[in-house]
Amino acid sequence: MDDQKQTKVWHVENDVDDEKNYAQIVDAARLIRQGEVVAFPTETVYGLGANALSDQAVEKIFRAKGRPSDNPLIVHISDREQLSMVARDVPKQAERLMERFWPGPLTLILPKQALVAERVTAGLDAVGVRMPDHQLARALIREAGVPIAAPSANRSGRPSPTTAKHVLADLDGRIAGVLDGGSAGVGVESTVLDVTAQPAMILRPGGITREQLAEVLGEVAVDPALAREAEQPRSPGMKYTHYAPQGELWVVDGEPEAVRERMLELLNSASRAGLKTGVLAPAETVHWWQQQHCADLVLRCGANSDLSAAARELYACLRRFDEEQVAYIVAQAFPRTGLGAAIMNRLEKAAGGRIICV
Ligand code: TXA
Ligand code: MG
Repeated sequence: MDDQKQTKVWHVENDVDDEKNYAQIVDAARLIRQGEVVAFPTETVYGLGANALSDQAVEKIFRAKGRPSDNPLIVHISDREQLSMVARDVPKQAERLMERFWPGPLTLILPKQALVAERVTAGLDAVGVRMPDHQLARALIREAGVPIAAPSANRSGRPSPTTAKHVLADLDGRIAGVLDGGSAGVGVESTVLDVTAQPAMILRPGGITREQLAEVLGEVAVDPALAREAEQPRSPGMKYTHYAPQGELWVVDGEPEAVRERMLELLNSASRAGLKTGVLAPAETVHWWQQQHCADLVLRCGANSDLSAAARELYACLRRFDEEQVAYIVAQAFPRTGLGAAIMNRLEKAAGGRIICV
């Protein structure tokens, strides 16, 4: 059975020099040291943190999230000195990346130090490490005095949380507390990069783009599994669906005219079947969709010309469809360049392979 507890909420502004704020961070850090789990904001999404050096503490993360135990966690550090607690070796190319992108949304896969709890890496000899670009997150880690293992603070399979309200919607009563520091910044998670491979390989696209990495590294590989997933709808139940809203989500990609036609067809047949329908569209087309009156809820998600805004708004939009109990959602694909690679990766996962290329 899940253990129910009172979840504490600390309201903290992103000003760690303020005394009142700092007292709250100290309180949260104390709970981390005592082996509890605490959610906190980062510049990407909210994380669910526990002492990365304690198997018992980390176990509580998996329990609270309902996360499969074979999925490893990212370890968060506050400064470069903590890195030696986590990684036993730092390749040259990793040094250059840290120099350029830390603190920031880049997770590096490095050889694991023995101190890190087995549970964090699910038994792997490599560990994902990042230094978040968020004052509150770093102050929490510093005060706790230990590296903090943290996945996104959602129930497993749900969209990642970009506000404390999202965290509570999923985890109230299941975790010791949440530091409410307002909205997360980037909105999609960090890029996961395996720097033990030559050339370095992107395992998950995220806040630092492939183009940015290439500026430092020259050559960057992308895990072939990522591309295959985009081409081939997966059979339901074969793999976990991530980031998914409760309604059935379809993503339509291709020439604008053809995309529009197909989206209309899908919406019309869903409406005929009596389903509550939704559309996710960028600023460029959202007004057109609103004028069609072909869907019950039309949500704007950033713009094709402003992918940062799309990344920031994506998860909140997916959660909003749930709040409105939309049963059938059709999303227009975003361009796949820059941050678009991360956005499309999340949308495709959320759709569980229901991608249509026209
Ligand atoms: O932005 C982020 O990365 C957020 C914030 C909270 O920092 N965290 C996050 O964690 O997204 P999570 O657990 O939702 O995703 C971690 C990803 C998973 O895809 C996991 O498989 C991969 O990183 N990962 C972690 N450690 C790994 C390892 N040792 N080898 C390969 N992949 C790893
Ligand atoms: Mg996650």
